Amino acid sequence: MKDAAPQPIYLADYTPPNWLIDDVHLTFRLAPNATRVVSRIAFRPNPDTASRDFFLHGEALTLIDARIDQKPVTPDLVEGGLRCSVPDAPFIWECEVEIDPANNTALEGLYMSSGMYCTQCEAEGFRKITYYPDRPDVMATFTVRIEGDMPVMLSNGNPVSQGPGFAEWHDPWPKPAYLFALVAGDLVNHPGQFTTRSGREVELNIWVRPGDEGKCAFAMEALKKSMTWDEDVYGCEYDLDIFNIVAVDDFNMGAMENKGLNIFNSSCVLASPETSTDANFERIEAIIAHEYFHNWTGNRITCRDWFQLCLKEGLTVYRDAEFTSDMRSAPVKRISDVIALRARQFREDNGPLAHPVRPESFVEINNFYTATIYEKGAEVIGMLKRLVGDDAYAEAVRLYFNRHDGQACTIEDWLSAFQDVTGRDLTQFKRWYSQAGTPRLKVTEDFKDGTYTLHFEQHTPATPGQPQKAPQVIPIAVGLLGPNGHEVMETTVLEMTEARQSFSFEGLTARPVPSILRDFSAPVILERATDNAERAFLLAHDTDPFNKWEAGRALARDGLIAQIREGAAPDAAYLDAIHAMARDDSLDPAFRALALGLPSQDDLAQTLADLGTTPDPQTIWEALETLRQARAQHCQDLATRLHAQFQVTDPYRPDAEQSGARALANAALGMISRLDGGAQAQRQYDAADNMTQQLAALSCLLQSGTGAEAVQRFYDQWRHDRLVIDKWFTLQIVHADPQDAAATAARLTAHPDFDMKNPNRFRATLGALAANPAGFHHASGAGYELLAEWLIRLDPVNPQTTARMCSAFETWKRYDAARQDMIAGQLDRILDTPGLSRDTTEMVSRIRG
Ligand code: PHE
Ligand code: ZN
Repeated sequence: MKDAAPQPIYLADYTPPNWLIDDVHLTFRLAPNATRVVSRIAFRPNPDTASRDFFLHGEALTLIDARIDQKPVTPDLVEGGLRCSVPDAPFIWECEVEIDPANNTALEGLYMSSGMYCTQCEAEGFRKITYYPDRPDVMATFTVRIEGDMPVMLSNGNPVSQGPGFAEWHDPWPKPAYLFALVAGDLVNHPGQFTTRSGREVELNIWVRPGDEGKCAFAMEALKKSMTWDEDVYGCEYDLDIFNIVAVDDFNMGAMENKGLNIFNSSCVLASPETSTDANFERIEAIIAHEYFHNWTGNRITCRDWFQLCLKEGLTVYRDAEFTSDMRSAPVKRISDVIALRARQFREDNGPLAHPVRPESFVEINNFYTATIYEKGAEVIGMLKRLVGDDAYAEAVRLYFNRHDGQACTIEDWLSAFQDVTGRDLTQFKRWYSQAGTPRLKVTEDFKDGTYTLHFEQHTPATPGQPQKAPQVIPIAVGLLGPNGHEVMETTVLEMTEARQSFSFEGLTARPVPSILRDFSAPVILERATDNAERAFLLAHDTDPFNKWEAGRALARDGLIAQIREGAAPDAAYLDAIHAMARDDSLDPAFRALALGLPSQDDLAQTLADLGTTPDPQTIWEALETLRQARAQHCQDLATRLHAQFQVTDPYRPDAEQSGARALANAALGMISRLDGGAQAQRQYDAADNMTQQLAALSCLLQSGTGAEAVQRFYDQWRHDRLVIDKWFTLQIVHADPQDAAATAARLTAHPDFDMKNPNRFRATLGALAANPAGFHHASGAGYELLAEWLIRLDPVNPQTTARMCSAFETWKRYDAARQDMIAGQLDRILDTPGLSRDTTEMVSRIRG
């Protein structure tokens, strides 16, 4: 028999907490299998509610003792927590529970990773530590005493006292339980120091396992830059005497913004030139910034309930993107973000998992840490800023901070600050938070008597639970170019509010070429009939870097679609235009490297499905191979020139300039390898003194089928570095020939270094299979079967990571009947697994539809 379907909870059902807390005292007596947690909590009735029902969340806890105002009580242990009869007045709750961190493989609550204790409480993990009203609108100050024999014992806030076998911490800032953290272990620190602009001296530490201390300097610099940037740009200053970051090997996500004690997946903090790529460095800088920025957007001002998750995540992603743009290249950051947005968020928005930026119901909140909440949530902030302007944005954010400091807020609070500052009615804008799906924006145009008119029509397709959509406010940044390539109208933001709307531009002497949706001013899909000549023109002349890149991307995509649908040869217009672009030394090398990228297999599959053609993953893969081969031939001399010209001779720096040069040189190496059988890549591999060069060469060798020896050498060189070995697992699977991909992944799951309990390693292996679409979707069905098998195995160990990885199947409805049957079979097989977690049940049921 199947378990009863898990019940959703609804935003509309929100009620405030009956009981509030001012202050919490926690004592931890650490022991791997039997940690005792003693809590002492001062509760008082919420004057705004009538009910005095007293419910505390709790999961996987053994209750040892409970007292109210010192008198023992016997609470009712109920599903998900306990109830107790309590006085109708303030009281002190004291409770002792026992938990088992060593057997906590779900990595939520208090768990152990490589011998150290650590916690993960967002979203609902604190209830696995003690009984508590585990909801973000209950905020309290925390005092924490840790007793144990670990050399380093940390919690939130400032240190109070410490001695042999104990440490005490106090966090003066009221916070919800999801921001609680504790770490204890044999750790070493990389220290730093920061003086805030009002003169507060802050001690900074990055805590790592002994041996990793040499990989902290970059993250420490990123932290200092983030602290300065947030003061300069948002006026946000740090508010404690100490800021600790800890690197943990076993972690479900990237990192976590616990107050004063950020905990990071070690892959998102540890860096060295020898072991990390340029992309790793950039990501580490961004995540350090992201978690630090949460101190204001998330911690000082938090979310009322989990439906408001985008309030902190969309805003913080937007802020970290601004930071990266300021530290590096704004156009390169924007283009990379749009590539990622389309790959993950558009895909999500277009399938069975589509949901609004602010969902109205969920079964398991862990399943809503999605590209939609994070990345589309950030796009919504960007649109708001574009609509109101930079000054009004700054003023509204200031008002939001001042008005809501110390509160748990909603999207309404955020938008009110903007309405109050600008006088603008944001009712329609708010649809970006409530309507799922990516709007399609159809554009036609006419030109008559010097007047050029753009006609827009918006339409958002139905998504699960939302058959009808109303028109949204779309900021459309437009520029116009004259026939000679000069700009005749600089960027102007059109504000579209209707389903159909036209905008005219007068006084033109010739029909202009439009550059529409500059800087990707809204997360929409532009549909416009155009031709290769115009795209090549824009690639050559557009002054907007995003649209310049976009023109090249569209040219490549159309040519690939013609190859796939009509058996056409690689498009000569694309080859000529891309050659001209790549050769242009006035362009940033990083931009050129991005423009040499090609649409992904998944992009092409979706484009085909939109055109009514059932995508065949193998044909898509072959078309890309054919185009890459043709391009290598077409650009042969240029590739050799670029590879030589952009070799970096200075000592390694992970900055924008050097990483741009390496990116272009390595794009060139990719072309060279298709013609020389990997000889140049082998030379680069042998000479490489940093991971960017080594890994790029290894990728080329694997793609040209000559990587076997390098793969072995790579393993021998790096077998003691788990983050590098993750790369080793991934690369072999991602670059495997489609027909071998599943077998390669299967073989690697049997490797002694495969460890399903480590989420990084699991993702490096099974996630890599899904990242090889032609391999994953191979007609044999072996890819589907292997992934399903491992998801079923992982689910009882780690439901959260299992559920996230189910999204590999989310596009299944676009494929042919045979593949759909096979996938449906695997989805059913997962759903039929006895005892399947709530996380995975929700995801697979939604995908299955
Ligand atoms: N709040 C974290 C972030 O975005 C992400 C996270 C969510 C981490 C849930 C762990 C668990 O920075
Ligand atoms: Zn975040």
